[in-house]
Amino acid sequence: MKNQRIVITGGAGFIGSHLTSTLVEMGNDVVVVDILLRGNKIPKEVQSKIEFHQVDVCDFDAMAKICKGADLIFHFAAILGVDIVADNPIETMETEVNGMQSVARAASTNGISKLIYASTSGVYGHIALEQSVSEEILIDPRTSYAMAKRYNEIYLASLFEEKGVHSVALRFFNIYGLRQDNRMVIPRFIEQALAGDPLTVYGTGEQTRDFTYIDDAIKATIHLAKSAKGFEIYNIANEKEATILDLAQIIIDVTSSASEIKLINAPSKRYDYEVGRRYGSSEKLDKKVGYKPTTELDNGLRIILTDN
Ligand SMILES: NC(=O)c1ccc[n+]([C@@H]2O[C@H](COP(=O)([O-])OP(=O)(O)OC[C@H]3O[C@@H](n4cnc5c(N)ncnc54)[C@H](O)[C@@H]3O)[C@@H](O)[C@H]2O)c1
Repeated sequence: MKNQRIVITGGAGFIGSHLTSTLVEMGNDVVVVDILLRGNKIPKEVQSKIEFHQVDVCDFDAMAKICKGADLIFHFAAILGVDIVADNPIETMETEVNGMQSVARAASTNGISKLIYASTSGVYGHIALEQSVSEEILIDPRTSYAMAKRYNEIYLASLFEEKGVHSVALRFFNIYGLRQDNRMVIPRFIEQALAGDPLTVYGTGEQTRDFTYIDDAIKATIHLAKSAKGFEIYNIANEKEATILDLAQIIIDVTSSASEIKLINAPSKRYDYEVGRRYGSSEKLDKKVGYKPTTELDNGLRIILTDN
């Protein structure tokens, strides 16, 4: 992927900023659309190499102008973070649904044939399986965030059928890495460990997640963007199940912290988000592009701590 004009919504956020840097490095003209809810995470040296618009993705007139002449759109703008989403379900859904309609219309009116969308492993909901989840299993989205993501996946399938816009929905499984902020568990635990404070774990800590390192997620995203045809859904997962207790202990070990682990009750508003087990299969991704995430959790955490 080179010499393309690429629009990235949410491009100043955690994942978007890494994607922006990589696509600039590959020799593309990158256009970022972001309202900077968490500041601008794009490295300073990259900021001067991109076109930036502080514009709400739901503003169709603005998006139609910005997207003129683009070859490809990555739609990553969203409201996220369990506590933020639980407190703002309407804003979360409106950003997802109105944002997608605006981006999709901006693509089809400008003749842009590819759209890559950040969905979520949250669409699997409370499904607890003895093996990793594949894209084919029945899903169970429960939260405003997951429901809206699932709605958008179906919207994209229809966008291909009716308007011929090719797209991929990426079901990200707990992406982590440099520049992530403490809405998410890993930066929160690292902060607590470095301060020598107890690492606060909700419930028993036996709940599992699949932590996927950012560089792996970006590689997978770019492979899929290159090969997108029709509409398809892919898990972006490391295929490893780690309990939150394991995670806390690994973070204590890699930071050589004297912190303890403290179990606390999860606030009731988090109920729908407190999934017992979740880890993904990246088999479909591997079959399609010959690549899947492999960075071990402790290695990914060491990279964050060294580069910080
Ligand atoms: N981080 C993860 O583990 C994870 C997991 C599953 C899915 N995702 C999805 O990946 C995408 C990126 O996530 P992230 O972790 O980088 O989040 P992030 O919050 O760091 O980035 C999202 C960006 O979107 C911007 N934004 C929000 N509303 C906007 C609007 N109306 N108009 C323009 N910009 C807007 C924010 O300012 C922010 O910079 C999101 O769609 C998210 O739902 C992330």
